[in-house]
Amino acid sequence: MGTKEKLLALFEENKGTYFSGEDIAEKLAVSRTAVWKAVNSLRDEGYCIDAVQNKGYCLSINTDILSAQGIQKYLTPVCSDIELTVLPSVDSTNALVREKAASGACEGYTVIANMQTKGKGRIGRSFFSPSDTGIYMSLLLRPLNYSPQQAVKITTMAAVAACEAIEAVSNEKAQIKWVNDIYIRGKKVSGILTEASFGLENGFLDYAVLGIGINVYPPKDGFPKELQGIAGAVFRESHNDGKNHLAAEFLNHFMAYYVEREKADYVDKYRSRSLVIGKEIQVLFSDCQKKATALDIDKDCRLIVKYEDGNIESLSSGEISVRLS
Ligand code: BTN
Repeated sequence: MGTKEKLLALFEENKGTYFSGEDIAEKLAVSRTAVWKAVNSLRDEGYCIDAVQNKGYCLSINTDILSAQGIQKYLTPVCSDIELTVLPSVDSTNALVREKAASGACEGYTVIANMQTKGKGRIGRSFFSPSDTGIYMSLLLRPLNYSPQQAVKITTMAAVAACEAIEAVSNEKAQIKWVNDIYIRGKKVSGILTEASFGLENGFLDYAVLGIGINVYPPKDGFPKELQGIAGAVFRESHNDGKNHLAAEFLNHFMAYYVEREKADYVDKYRSRSLVIGKEIQVLFSDCQKKATALDIDKDCRLIVKYEDGNIESLSSGEISVRLS
């Protein structure tokens, strides 16, 4: 870690507290000039660092910039294998982590971006990923002997973890629209895309990349026309450490389920947060759509629906999505 990163860790751990230049120099074992340069380069990155004579430097509690240091201070020991990289911008964090996975990166390799230029959604859609207001995160997982059916559970665990993380940092109640959309106040605030690669010989999972996008704040220029009325954000206005805290809470909650995945009881939690059970829905196939009633979600997270003609079917996520009627 360079001086700037060490200084950021000190500031993030002690937001709102003043440290003299001398004190910082001693703590980081660097010169006063090095401290001054690091302060300036953090300011260039947008950090609001107050400097007061006889008091020193202080990171404003209103600063909310995604960083590994800002996230790490909230991580619990269940995340000890998470290797975090935070980037200002990337095409797609899922695409980047898939590349790293193919070249042998380890489980826990995680990329979080402040914006994406080609954010991917489900079923070939794009995911709106503007700068400064969201969290775009991908996490590499390599569970052993995982079948395609078990791989679906990664998305399920992530959906429950996302709801719990949102509720841990806000006063909102989060719900899940099967299979991977998180809603609060009737608006989609988060989507999950899990992409997987399977071994040709045994059919088991080689790796999965769990991608999640969360609209933490409303975008500066608003949502594009096609998302207006559909998309929302977790917070209506600036919130102390909103992004870093929420990113960390997601990792804490997800990893707690993931490490206990053989026995964790997330399906009941998923079901109890369902927005669709008991409702009239449209099932959207690639070539048509059908009206149905959502009856239940089974233990493998399939959606059980009853069509108008009385036929009952269990839907696996795949290329299907649902819309509330
Ligand atoms: C959806 O709602 O259809 C799923 C959206 C998934 C978006 C996330 S953002 C981080 C990761 N990188 C991507 O390109 N997509 C996922």
